[in-house]
Amino acid sequence: MATTKVLSVVSEIYPLIKTGGLADVAGALPGALAAEDVEMRTLVPGYPAVMTALAEAEKVEKVFRLKDLFGGPAVVLAGRAKGLDLFVLDAPHLFDRPGNPYHDGDGEDWPDNPFRFAALARVGAEIGFGAIKGFRPDVVHTHDWQAGLTPAYLEYDGRPRPGTVATVHNLAFQGQYPKDMLADLRLPPHAWGVDGVEYYDTIGFLKSALRMSDRVTTVSPTYAAEIRSGEGGMGLSGLLAGRAGVVSGILNGIDTDVWDPADDPLIAGHYDASTPSSRRTNKSALQKRFGIKVDRRAMVFGVVSRLSWQKGLDMVLEGIETILSVGGQLVLLGSGDRELVDGFRHAAAAHPGRVGVMIGYDESLAHQVQAGSDALLVPSRFEPCGLTQLCALRYGAIPIVTRVGGLADTIIDANEMALEAGVGTGVMFTPPHADMFRAAILRAADLYRDGATWRRLMKNAMRTDVSWRRSAARYAKLYRDLVTERNA
Ligand code: ADP
Ligand code: GLC
Repeated sequence: MATTKVLSVVSEIYPLIKTGGLADVAGALPGALAAEDVEMRTLVPGYPAVMTALAEAEKVEKVFRLKDLFGGPAVVLAGRAKGLDLFVLDAPHLFDRPGNPYHDGDGEDWPDNPFRFAALARVGAEIGFGAIKGFRPDVVHTHDWQAGLTPAYLEYDGRPRPGTVATVHNLAFQGQYPKDMLADLRLPPHAWGVDGVEYYDTIGFLKSALRMSDRVTTVSPTYAAEIRSGEGGMGLSGLLAGRAGVVSGILNGIDTDVWDPADDPLIAGHYDASTPSSRRTNKSALQKRFGIKVDRRAMVFGVVSRLSWQKGLDMVLEGIETILSVGGQLVLLGSGDRELVDGFRHAAAAHPGRVGVMIGYDESLAHQVQAGSDALLVPSRFEPCGLTQLCALRYGAIPIVTRVGGLADTIIDANEMALEAGVGTGVMFTPPHADMFRAAILRAADLYRDGATWRRLMKNAMRTDVSWRRSAARYAKLYRDLVTERNA
């Protein structure tokens, strides 16, 4: 069978630019798919970090130019940087600015975001039509609202188009803009309608992708089911239920080379499933690093997270007394909402030696928390997939999670029967309320006190296959089926 060519269109990619799991997925997919005979190349905006990485590439080619892309000239560059085959949209008037891909230093969205990401989508569509010699994609795969207009530009153009797949990583971010932007976004008048970009009287970037793509995927089977129901659908459940036949859930994996406790340059001591007791070095290093008491017996609960309502960390604040009551310690690495930042800073000040908090974004610290904590807390209210619990499994930090989305699909609750069958990998609770969180902490502490049981859980966790292997095969099949269907 011929190699399937896929263009991935995405607004962030690890290790060049990352605000969350989306970047991890975009960065890992091409490598995972290569084993499935899929050639994936990725179009990303030329933010300063991306341009810097590209400058180090061996060979950079200018593959096409646009005289005017929403207010300025643009060049599309092709090159291989940090192991990734990239097309980079170099449009300084849109992307040459400091800081975050989506907002300024004060956390305010860039006011021209609709045009910045429409530009990404338009160029994605041009590559889809074959603008780049030697790379005419069979499928264009878009991620989240930022790439959301790509299928619309492909559809309304009228030229023969490739197949389209849209992946939802988080339905909470939808990209809605005023309807009077329609013409400025170079969308035709007939795009305005329920089968096009119209969404509650606005232009809906994500909505149009979900409406117009040949296939819609999300990042876990349970989230795929949740978003077809009222609350989980966040305004889009009707549309998604109506398209149920083309909506599916494909679980994320993690890059098991980047996340490998046996060979991780960012952690203090190496170990694997057969030597879990060697985690001790990492535990004491972590306790030191977070300024809490170095104590082998204290159960360390870790958090690595965006601090937002989605992640349910207010439950952790409400549960701190319970953590301390079982002789536990808390280490938290995160950044985000002011209220939660203040809450955790306050908790650290109130419980010196037992609660350690680092506010910020720090890749190596994230590895150290995974390697040194006994348990990782992920009490999300909703979670499309979640990657930190997968890292935790791999690193032998037992995940304590809510039964939602991808958390429900990746963790096996250590209940009586699972323990009996020897298959538990974590502790799961529902519904996402502080009371249930506290009960889960108590249950986890009981399991921890029973050394043999805990060791068993760690082994099970560390032996779980959290790689992209199975899911890469599913994406490859999805692309191939789509190509076959469109050629029929
Ligand atoms: P989301 O994308 O919703 O934030 P995921 O669990 O899918 O959640 O992915 C989060 C990714 O970001 C993981 O790779 C995690 O390690 C990383 N991460 C989150 N917060 C931080 C932080 N403060 N410092 C370093 N890495 C972080
Ligand atoms: C989103 C979701 C997260 C998912 C990630 C990658 O950020 O919040 O659950 O793991 O995307 O798909």
